[in-house]
Amino acid sequence: NTITLSVIKADIGGFVGHSAMHPALMDCANEKLAAAKKSGLLVDYHVSACGDDLQLIMTHRHGVDHEPIHRLAWDTFEAGTAVAKDLHLYGAGQDLLADAFSGNVRGQGPGVAEMEFVERKSDPVLVFMADKTSAGAWNLPLYKMFADPFTTAGLVIAPTLHQGFRFEVHDIYKHKKITFDCPEELYDMLMFIGSPGKYTVKAVYSRADGTIAASTSTERLSLIAGKYVGKDDPVMIVRAQQNFPAVGEVLDPFRYPWIIEGWMRGSHYGPLMPVSVKQATPTRFDGPPRVACLGFQLAGGRLIGPRDMFDDPSYDEARRDANRIADVLRMHGPFEPHRLPLEDMEYTTMPQIMKKLEGRWAQL
Ligand code: F6R
Ligand code: MG
Ligand code: MG
Repeated sequence: NTITLSVIKADIGGFVGHSAMHPALMDCANEKLAAAKKSGLLVDYHVSACGDDLQLIMTHRHGVDHEPIHRLAWDTFEAGTAVAKDLHLYGAGQDLLADAFSGNVRGQGPGVAEMEFVERKSDPVLVFMADKTSAGAWNLPLYKMFADPFTTAGLVIAPTLHQGFRFEVHDIYKHKKITFDCPEELYDMLMFIGSPGKYTVKAVYSRADGTIAASTSTERLSLIAGKYVGKDDPVMIVRAQQNFPAVGEVLDPFRYPWIIEGWMRGSHYGPLMPVSVKQATPTRFDGPPRVACLGFQLAGGRLIGPRDMFDDPSYDEARRDANRIADVLRMHGPFEPHRLPLEDMEYTTMPQIMKKLEGRWAQL
């Protein structure tokens, strides 16, 4: 009963602008994945959307990085792109950076979070989807879930969690990885993951039995393409209960709208607002950035669900706080710390402006 959960997502066209998903794209994806389930390639699937990103949540028996599964996702995004082009949706096909599929969607534009594991007798999984932000957005919530006893009571009082968790951290510029055993190496780890634009948490493992607890997508579209092609709007899978944090411990970090990169033109800091899937439609200044979470119980690979986890009044204050933080940041307009530092913006006119003003800079 080894199962693989693959979440593969792409922005293949927005409705309206970059704010949400047209139902025709969801219909198209549902049709493709239904056929793949019928053929036996998939055990089960669920199609969702967060902002302008189409989300394919799939279970199967083939392990991670399996070519036919990645091809299915790519073909589904291509079919959706054709629909998006027909409807003149905004940015049709924007995340399909390669001209043709070459064996794996990693590095080709779409975002991927996958994990293979032995299904427990009852196995709750949570799929997080973010829009208008970037790969590092999960660093702080993952730290809170798996290393902060003020969030996860189980780290202190549950024998199954007390040994702590192992974090796999990627340097996304140098393409290197390292693991940190927490709690012993917390302070070393924070030095890195506190800079989520450079270092991202790729996965978390239980130290009690080595099993995988969390997996994220860390692709950075702007680095892949060498120019602005949209923020990477990451996804994350987290397993809950027993040897892992409880569902409520996994969700608790999102009570506070942490300030992250993204928002308008991928060039501003903004609060990450936890919302229902229905409210995952970033509208104000193309934001503020959103996170939605779908919960499932696995049953022999079948996805029983989803439950829309942030569709709950206990997150009302988080949403209100996010709006207040958004007001404070928006007041700054084109000034830092709302606007990103010059070197981190995804849009810039600096080279042109510098060129135009060449020769007008006098020596002090
Ligand atoms: C941010 C985002 C949007 C766009 C903005 C401008 O991730 O997708 O904020 O950057 O709407 O879009 P273009 O350049 O396509 O007009
Ligand atoms: Mg878009
Ligand atoms: Mg998006």
